[in-house]
Amino acid sequence: MTVSEALKARISTRAFLDTPVSKADIEAILEEARWAASGGNVQPWHVIAVAGEARQRVMDAVQEKLKTDPFANEADFPVYPESLWEPYRSRRFQVGEDMYALLGVPREDKAARFAHLMENYRFFGAPQALFFAIDARMNPNQWAHLGMFMMCVCLAAQGRGLATCMQEAWTPHCRTVGQALGVEAPLKVYCGMAIGHADPDAVVNTLRSRRAEVDEFTRFEGF
Ligand SMILES: Cc1cc2nc3c(=O)[nH]c(=O)nc-3n(C[C@H](O)[C@H](O)[C@H](O)COP(=O)(O)O)c2cc1C
Repeated sequence: MTVSEALKARISTRAFLDTPVSKADIEAILEEARWAASGGNVQPWHVIAVAGEARQRVMDAVQEKLKTDPFANEADFPVYPESLWEPYRSRRFQVGEDMYALLGVPREDKAARFAHLMENYRFFGAPQALFFAIDARMNPNQWAHLGMFMMCVCLAAQGRGLATCMQEAWTPHCRTVGQALGVEAPLKVYCGMAIGHADPDAVVNTLRSRRAEVDEFTRFEGF
């Protein structure tokens, strides 16, 4: 698979088979992804790979928290700015609408939408997952570099025929996740990632999200 093919093939997979991915495969993916660039070669990423009992422990801890206050935010700031503006607002809205249209879930069916959202907290069925953590003293630049590393993980997985879904759904529960996994300050959990074999029969995995055209986000100067 070429880099171009991997970039186009990678999607956020939201239904996985229960077929496990071996520790050796996860290690091989991380071995490739660690070649991600980072400012000053600081390599600000930390990864906690979970399967089996550890995966269950995180799920149980977050399920318990969800029972008491499903939307309580443990992160230093909310995932999105409070009131997203255009064009970002419409893009966010659109991808949700496209997904629920595919699933045949109308806007009014809040229960079905909530149930799908909750699938995040079982990693969409993936038997293993990654959590990404960063030293809380880092600046926004290093957070960007962590994101670049995460994308490299997705592409390395794609190259092996594996699927991923980055999951900021865990971010509001980052302290709960951190406690369940023994992540200690100054590290803090940023994001999760389901990783595994995509369910080829799941309609949700046919979603192809839209993108702005290059000229909408690029200004060429001096060409
Ligand atoms: C950092 C990050 C966190 C994300 N968190 C979630 C999540 O919690 N749940 C989810 O279903 N999708 C999540 N997504 C997937 C995005 O919705 C998705 O990337 C976007 O709609 C584009 O679709 P694509 O990944 O299929 O190309 C996340 C993506 C990124 C990059």
